[in-house]
Amino acid sequence: MEYKDLAKNELKEILAEEYRKFNDYKNLGLSYDMTRGKPCKLQLDLSNEMESEKFLQGFHSISDQEVRNYGVLDGIPEAKKLMSEMLGVGTDELVVGGSSSLNLMYDMLVRFMLFGTGTEGCKPWSKEEKIKWICPVPGYDRHFLITEKLGFELIAVPLQGDGPDMDRIEELVKDANVKGMWMIPKYSNPTGEVYSDEKIRRLASMKTAAKDFRILCDDAYTVHFLKNGPAKQLNMLEACKEAGNPERVFLFGSTSKITFPGSGLSAVCGSEKNVKYLLTYLNIQTICYDKINQLRHARFLGDYSGIIAHMKKHAKILLPKFEAVDKILNEELNGLGILTWTKPEGGYFISIDTLPGCAAAVVAKAKECGVKFTPAGSTFPYKKDPDDRNIRIAPTLPPIQELEAAIRILCVCVKICSIEKLLEA
Ligand SMILES: Cc1ncc(COP(=O)(O)O)c(C=O)c1O
Repeated sequence: MEYKDLAKNELKEILAEEYRKFNDYKNLGLSYDMTRGKPCKLQLDLSNEMESEKFLQGFHSISDQEVRNYGVLDGIPEAKKLMSEMLGVGTDELVVGGSSSLNLMYDMLVRFMLFGTGTEGCKPWSKEEKIKWICPVPGYDRHFLITEKLGFELIAVPLQGDGPDMDRIEELVKDANVKGMWMIPKYSNPTGEVYSDEKIRRLASMKTAAKDFRILCDDAYTVHFLKNGPAKQLNMLEACKEAGNPERVFLFGSTSKITFPGSGLSAVCGSEKNVKYLLTYLNIQTICYDKINQLRHARFLGDYSGIIAHMKKHAKILLPKFEAVDKILNEELNGLGILTWTKPEGGYFISIDTLPGCAAAVVAKAKECGVKFTPAGSTFPYKKDPDDRNIRIAPTLPPIQELEAAIRILCVCVKICSIEKLLEA
């Protein structure tokens, strides 16, 4: 029976019982960190071999370039081939960067601010009176922070399980101040959803008032499946080219959660014109990225099938963790009408929605028991979830026993906060 249909005295009885459990947990003095989506040690160990000397032998790329020295701004050919296969673009449509795709995104937006997008007749964005930016929600806190700090006005648009509300976006882009949007097309952070081809086509083809409208498409989880293989999806750059808007999108990705976060390879893709624009400015910014790391990655992962084989090993470690979370949520909360949660096929997160007005209280309550979750609100622009409902769960890092204990505690906190909210009404 759903909690909302229970009498007040019945709710109070359950509350007393849940508080008893809560106090028992509190007395255990636990300290669990469930905040960030990092790979666990077992996952990191999958790539240890990459550090062996055999993957660097000769220090020369297939085009005979010495990787220990300066040069080759856009990346050595084998690294370009590897990353272009992963991201579904041509080798002339990509630049291999340093160890962080987020850094490439930040740089891209700062470049737009300082120099503009290279679109004829358009000013640098810093010269515009106002920049508005579309943020599908719930989304990635670091994306939102970049565009917030650059002074953009952030507009939240809800995700609908297969991408954002396109009717709303098509309305918003009639405003010339709306210059672009974030998107995480596959296994989105945190909802895990995969944008449908139909929505990708609409994003690629919609009419925008701003001539220099840009989509920063962060394909961070493109091969991060949990079961049989990556979801098939229309490539955003391909869709933009087909729609006659090839310059609309910059596509990003990295091997952060394939090999080593912070020591992986990143890449940025775009139309040939966009790549040329990018290289013009990149050429001022740096002489080249870390080609030793490029060589090591290209030789270790090999090609697309090598990446997929490697990701299967990650999936084997991660699937039991995602299943454990789902199982506990089902056991504890199914049918109570107080929590919904996602069942992602890939990515790094499970996204939960409490009753309105409960998320911050749940996170605070869990903290009292020594379990840290990502602060409620983090998945929204300005860290403000208007309904105070969404919490991001990151099951990858903790050992499974810790994860299970943390989720049991979460369930107790969800029950307590939901009942307290219902009793208030
Ligand atoms: C959607 C998304 N993009 C980018 C990143 C960071 O990527 P990188 O390590 O390549 O900077 C993350 C990390 O959690 C992420 O979730």
